[in-house]
Amino acid sequence: VVGGLEFAVADLTLAEAGRHQLRLAEYEMPGLMSIREEFRESQPLKGARIAGSLHMTVQTAVLIETLVALGAQVRWVSCNIFSTQDEAAAAVVVGSGTVEAPAGVPVFAWKGETLDEYWWATMRLFDFDGVGPNMILDDGGDATLLVHKGVEFEGAGAVPQTTEADSHEYSIILETLRASLADDPQRFTRIAAEIRGVTEETTTGVARLYKLAKEGGLLFPAINVNDSVTKSKFDNKYGIRHSLVDGLNRATDVMLGGKLALVCGYGDVGKGAAETLRGQGARVVVTEIDPICALQAAMDGMQVARIEDVLGEVDIFVTTTGGTDIITAEHLAGMKHNAIVGNVGHFDDEIDMAGLAKVPGVKKIEIKPQVHEWAFPDGHSVIVLSEGRLMNLGNATGHPSFVMSNSFSNQVIAQIELWTKPGEYEKQVYVLPKHLDEKVARLHLDALGVKLTTLSKKQAEYLGVDVEGPYKPEHYRY
Ligand code: NAI
Repeated sequence: VVGGLEFAVADLTLAEAGRHQLRLAEYEMPGLMSIREEFRESQPLKGARIAGSLHMTVQTAVLIETLVALGAQVRWVSCNIFSTQDEAAAAVVVGSGTVEAPAGVPVFAWKGETLDEYWWATMRLFDFDGVGPNMILDDGGDATLLVHKGVEFEGAGAVPQTTEADSHEYSIILETLRASLADDPQRFTRIAAEIRGVTEETTTGVARLYKLAKEGGLLFPAINVNDSVTKSKFDNKYGIRHSLVDGLNRATDVMLGGKLALVCGYGDVGKGAAETLRGQGARVVVTEIDPICALQAAMDGMQVARIEDVLGEVDIFVTTTGGTDIITAEHLAGMKHNAIVGNVGHFDDEIDMAGLAKVPGVKKIEIKPQVHEWAFPDGHSVIVLSEGRLMNLGNATGHPSFVMSNSFSNQVIAQIELWTKPGEYEKQVYVLPKHLDEKVARLHLDALGVKLTTLSKKQAEYLGVDVEGPYKPEHYRY
């Protein structure tokens, strides 16, 4: 705590460097900046106490300061142990103050947290000077998970004992909630009753929300930001097209042209990943379980195969599925020497890192932070990036500002929806209406010099749409 402000970041003296980057990012984020102008007077988020769990990058800093400009009180953590940009975290904490007297937002995030530190930080989201948050902004659903598990265990009066089957991370979550229950047996029950809703950023978090809603266990309304067209069809695809290669280059600086790359999954992220690798001159093979996406990959000119068919020939492996056990310890053992392995799906179980650590005689050598050589006793090595976690954020700085301006404009609009319309949304998962999706796109056209054609009245009537939009029916897929 400095000058009454609580925070935990790597180094506040990085704030000035962070602020310079924020200034440049603001210029590249026209959506967020025009939303700031539109709502600065009316302060629609006044009274909102937002608990935010989303990669603490430069772009997220612009999001946080937009929420504050609209009247919200905010606390923030990263949703990944490696994704924080320490200078951005420092700049957000310092705000309009100084290093000696910071006047910004409480941030609890630094690059290279341990899992214990990560869950400690996430718990700090839930204490706004003695009261809880009343909104959540989530990426991957960890903040939402803590509230739901907390309420469940408080209802039962106890936290279950950790078992052998629990992952290391889940046992930390159980410990965290056990301590919380001992300290305040109704903490999350009270918090959940006050929360008006959650807005969720990514595919994996959205999948968790739909599952909860289906089981009848969702405790408050949710907006699925990911499935705004201006999010998943832009951030997931064009964002990864930028940040995957950025991560590979910063981590290894290996020549990508001429190499054989395997992309597991051909959804939105997989499509961006395959395109960027091909753009660098790599030959790209795709794996898929869904016949539609497999056919898309084939029609886009990719070879579609099973991982076992190409295992020993591939130079670069990238997982993008949001699934589990995509690359197993057995696969890692069968790869060619110095094959590079990275994941850009949300959680780290796409690559079986726990299984890799258990291979008899295997040695882990740190090349540099977030780049490790795993040397097998037979003499071959594999290079694993970011310990199997999101390597585009762990080895690089995530997606660039312009595309994140689209995603985060949806986030801010979704926060305003849920905060200003209590009672209008059930405990279900919603997507934003199409006219708001089109609005987000519109906010980004001028910056690229796009000149949009306007429908005539006659043309609009012919198509059966309004001159002002929305232009497509709900079932249209873009
Ligand atoms: P998606 O659902 O569009 O694509 C995933 C694809 O993987 C699907 O086509 C599915 O059929 C395929 N798949 C599932 N299991 C498979 C298996 N065993 N083998 C081969 N293919 C398999 O999802 P999207 O939007 O592409 O997101 C994927 C993951 O990336 C999610 O975890 C999401 O949260 C994360 N994400 C990461 C970002 C980043 O910056 N690194 C940005 C956006 C999303």
